[in-house]
Amino acid sequence: MLKGKPFVKWAGGKRQIINKLKKYIPEQFNTYYEPFVGGGALLFELSPTNAVINDYNKELINVYNCIKDEECLNKMCSELNNYEANHSEEFYFEIRNKDRDKKRFNRLSNYKRAARTIYLNKACFNGLYRVNSKNEFNVPFNKKTKVNTYDGQNLGIIHSYLNFNNINIISVDFEEAIDDAQKGDFIYFDPPYDSDTQTFNSYTEGGFGKEEQKRLAKVFKKLSERGCYVMLSNHNTKLVNELYNEYNIYVIEAKRNINSNGKKRGNVEEVIITNYGQKEGHDENKQ
Ligand SMILES: C[S@@+](CC[C@H](N)C(=O)[O-])C[C@H]1O[C@@H](n2cnc3c(N)ncnc32)[C@H](O)[C@@H]1O
Repeated sequence: MLKGKPFVKWAGGKRQIINKLKKYIPEQFNTYYEPFVGGGALLFELSPTNAVINDYNKELINVYNCIKDEECLNKMCSELNNYEANHSEEFYFEIRNKDRDKKRFNRLSNYKRAARTIYLNKACFNGLYRVNSKNEFNVPFNKKTKVNTYDGQNLGIIHSYLNFNNINIISVDFEEAIDDAQKGDFIYFDPPYDSDTQTFNSYTEGGFGKEEQKRLAKVFKKLSERGCYVMLSNHNTKLVNELYNEYNIYVIEAKRNINSNGKKRGNVEEVIITNYGQKEGHDENKQ
């Protein structure tokens, strides 16, 4: 089976560590839930038959829906071909500023909104998605003279995957997204990172602070009690260790950050937390 790959570059995307992540997946499960799907690195890698995928970011979820719909997908690709031909710094700001007039923006067709989201992702600085308090996209231009917005074959694979399987695509808060999860289902949480200092965490209007991390830990516990398999990734911070101390915590990536301050060095590690046991031979990273 051909597998899709993320069609956007997404902050916190898991493609670089996908092989490490896969070692911690339960051997069997029913429905797959990904409440913070972002670019969908693990979703595409696993390509489960039954899944509920969610992200609070409505523009991103509109792209998933558009790729699923054949007519929308074709129109979005033609639109992107035009954008590539017209690409310049001035054009970038013209497209970026379309959300400044909310009435007009809300009247845009889904394929135009989807094309805008993909184009901005590829032409903005570092593929970031950041909006201000008025929900206006405000990432600077990446200054590249050429832009490649999509890989037609990949979009075709994703289109087929979304249509020939039972994939429910939604855009709500993570807590609502897992409401129907039952015993035997597998939930993978990849929330915006916690940090002991302040870093980027504003993918959406509201941001994701300590209170949200605590609320997520409660949801993790609730799902554990329901008999679901739950896996979560985050940074190796003090708060994350406190919140999940009754579960398995595996350190999977220690970036070699030369820093004389030991506390700061710890922050760049990534952890995977599970509420279920480990497959044979992969417990060397357990905390
Ligand atoms: C670390 S990223 C996920 C990255 C993803 N796993 C990937 O591989 O690209 C976190 C995602 O959570 C979403 N998000 C933020 N707050 C949320 C909330 N309250 N409910 C659902 N999703 C939320 C953001 O829009 C963002 O896409």
